Amino acid sequence: MYENYYGLTSKPFQLTPDPSFFFGSKWHKRAMSYLQYGLSQAEGFIVITGDIGTGKTTIANSLLDDMQEDIVAAQIVSPKLSPDELVKMVASKFNVPVKGSTKSDILNDLEIFLMDLHKQGKRALLLVDEAQNLPLETIEELRMLSNFQAAGKPLLQSFLLGQEELQPILRAPNMEQFRQRIVASCHLAPLTDIECQAYIEYRMQHAGWDNRALFSAGAYDRIFQFTHGIPRKINTLMDRILLFGFLEELETLDEEAVENVIKEISEEMFNPEKQTQATTQPTGILDVTTEDGQVKDVEYYKTMLTELVDALDSAISQKIKLTRYIDRLLQKKYKTYVRLKSDD
Ligand SMILES: Nc1ncnc2c1ncn2[C@@H]1O[C@H](COP(=O)(O)OP(=O)(O)OP(=O)(O)O)[C@@H](O)[C@H]1O
Ligand SMILES: [Mg+2]
Repeated sequence: MYENYYGLTSKPFQLTPDPSFFFGSKWHKRAMSYLQYGLSQAEGFIVITGDIGTGKTTIANSLLDDMQEDIVAAQIVSPKLSPDELVKMVASKFNVPVKGSTKSDILNDLEIFLMDLHKQGKRALLLVDEAQNLPLETIEELRMLSNFQAAGKPLLQSFLLGQEELQPILRAPNMEQFRQRIVASCHLAPLTDIECQAYIEYRMQHAGWDNRALFSAGAYDRIFQFTHGIPRKINTLMDRILLFGFLEELETLDEEAVENVIKEISEEMFNPEKQTQATTQPTGILDVTTEDGQVKDVEYYKTMLTELVDALDSAISQKIKLTRYIDRLLQKKYKTYVRLKSDD
């Protein structure tokens, strides 16, 4: 819509992770280097974590886009998979038939497939996105899959990408065996203010911008302040700023224009600034209705609550596992104590 008006050939701030728009911020470059390093090691796990919308899937897609020919890659965007479902999913991603087969048949066929690849001088890579959703047992199953070996080298290498919740999962006491196989890990931080401006300019240039002065310094500052340098938030805001500029026939976009758009967005969406206001209401209850009594964006609240419930579920199940682990440890210690006592 606004592309022609600003002399652009495509939309610069699409939400779909597109490798051709990949911007190498300090942390994105570092994460990419770790993944490349992992590939060169041909063994062990690489873990990339990062806040929501910081660019994990973009990095995964950029890596796949740039993959060497001797690597056969598959990507899993994992909902909560059980260990058996994971094995099925991995096999089917590598086109190993799974229908009507038992787990041990599938594992057998998968090993044959990986061995065949190895004989052709190729190897397999599994990219697991949204890995924070994997239960502990499923991560453990992933480790078991890395045990398929030929000449002492694993036949399948896996990279895990996930939101911050992945970190405590991997820190769990019974994940030691997995932890020892992590060759590198990296946490993606949001962009700095300088990077935020460079990111905007990079995406604009990639969409055909001729570099003519368009945004004021104040506009860049306000964009950073509102988005905290999170790429997905920057994309959403920038798309709306350009639309606003087009509708208002603005040739340059300054702080005031950005402020107007932020106000518009804040009225439509549930964003952190609004949230702070809402929590200061004396009742402590979020105002989910507009002035004329209409319920605001019900879908959004539903999704938010579902996510909250999922997060609590997984926190509880982690706690239960930890408690069982401590129980076992105490039992062991108690037995040792009894043995030592009887030796006395
Ligand atoms: N380095 C980057 N270069 C260009 N665009 C990026 C970069 N990082 C993120 N983006 C953009 O930000 C948006 C969010 O990125 P992405 O979907 O990769 O985030 P994510 O970390 O996987 O989010 P989630 O936690 O929700 O899965 C996408 O529109 C993507 O194009
Ligand atoms: Mg993602």
